[in-house]
Amino acid sequence: MNAPWSPSRHGATTRDPFSAYICDDATADTIRPVCAEMGWPVEKINKGGLRNAVQSLSVSASPNILFVDLSESGDPLNDINALAEVCEPGTVVIAAGEVNDVRLYRDLVASGIQDYLLKPFNADQLREAFAHAQAVLNGPRHNEPVADRPHMTAAIIGARGGVGASTIAASLAWLFSDSQKRSTALLDLDVHFGTGALSLDLEPGRGLTDAIENPGRIDGLFIERAMVRANDKLSVLSAEAPMSQPLLSDGGAFYQLQEEMRAAFECTVIDLPRHMVIQHPHLMNEIQSVVVVSELTLVGARDVIRILSWLKANAPHSNVLVALNRVGPNGTTELTKKDFESSIERKVDFVIPFDSKVVCQAAKLGKPVAEVGKTSKVGLELQAIGTRLLLTADGGDESGEVAASKAGKSVSLADKIGSLRSLLPSKKAKADQVA
Ligand SMILES: Nc1ncnc2c1ncn2[C@@H]1O[C@H](COP(=O)(O)OP(=O)(O)OP(=O)(O)O)[C@@H](O)[C@H]1O
Ligand SMILES: [Mg+2]
Repeated sequence: MNAPWSPSRHGATTRDPFSAYICDDATADTIRPVCAEMGWPVEKINKGGLRNAVQSLSVSASPNILFVDLSESGDPLNDINALAEVCEPGTVVIAAGEVNDVRLYRDLVASGIQDYLLKPFNADQLREAFAHAQAVLNGPRHNEPVADRPHMTAAIIGARGGVGASTIAASLAWLFSDSQKRSTALLDLDVHFGTGALSLDLEPGRGLTDAIENPGRIDGLFIERAMVRANDKLSVLSAEAPMSQPLLSDGGAFYQLQEEMRAAFECTVIDLPRHMVIQHPHLMNEIQSVVVVSELTLVGARDVIRILSWLKANAPHSNVLVALNRVGPNGTTELTKKDFESSIERKVDFVIPFDSKVVCQAAKLGKPVAEVGKTSKVGLELQAIGTRLLLTADGGDESGEVAASKAGKSVSLADKIGSLRSLLPSKKAKADQVA
């Protein structure tokens, strides 16, 4: 009875798009023009509030969006639950009333109400509420039955700045949503300098900053509202927090966001800046796969070694993949792939070439590199990473290295890093000269 409505796209097309049950003329007058703007028939704005809605809906099909006035209800919560009994699943309910009480608001939301507008409200507030309701109707569904596949969570960590971790994260998220048709969340945890939204030509909105400021508000509904939609299957949570606003979080918000995303989406791709894992190691707790990205540089090798070692201690359950990015032709990189592999003591899983043409085109179009360069080497390698991540999630791939399974050999971390310098050709030459 008290079960929240679980709106679903299924069957939505056979219903009326909208109906309203309003107690007073002034409110009906505010709703009418906005309703007309939305292309909904104004005759569906009925007189009488919640009670009338319950009566009508007990004998007729529920609309996609239902607007109910609670002003004449002595016990709104109880009456809302009566409405839940007659209202079919799939209807998004917006309520309005005269009681300005945050507890009532919370209780109504917990009962499955999408929004509560305090009367008198204006046309803009109404438009915003309708836009949210439509986004909920069209968006990825909490509780929507999905194919029986385990959730996939992958974190992309750049071993150094600027190695292309965010480029890869956005592309992977797009690939899961587009080629694989899996509902996907891109969570960009570079709170001040995130590019998740920008790279998909979106405004980041305040969702992530709101979540950090009020972690208590994070729930399924919050996720639906706060995330920006890139396409039918891809939603983004990203921020461009002001530089004057230091990040004040114990990490709880990020952890909770991950949890809600796991419930609402099939895949979560996290753009995870390396300083965030130092600050909030528990972020790794539920991460299935990690892609560590580096360029073929000495410092890149050093920090891949350090990150792999850290993952072994802090995320022993995670499947760890190493991807080289922005790799130029032989002879143009600081290290060779072979030297890189011998220093990190494992194989590199993926090599993405340097391709300024595809990357520039993607930036100009505001599209992910994987989409613009679908058939390029960059695109094909990104697809290979995506396939491997999904295979791991679906349980069909045993080839990745679980962080803890990599034998530490007997060489200490300091020794590994210390011996790196000998890999640089110029240093080798210098050393030879001195000898
Ligand atoms: N394969 C590639 N070829 C050429 N340029 C690339 C490639 N991949 C990424 N880039 C470019 O490298 C730059 C850095 O990429 P990106 O912002 O994704 O890196 P990052 O690791 O997320 O950086 P930050 O440390 O700032 O978060 C961008 O200009 C991007 O377009
Ligand atoms: Mg980045």
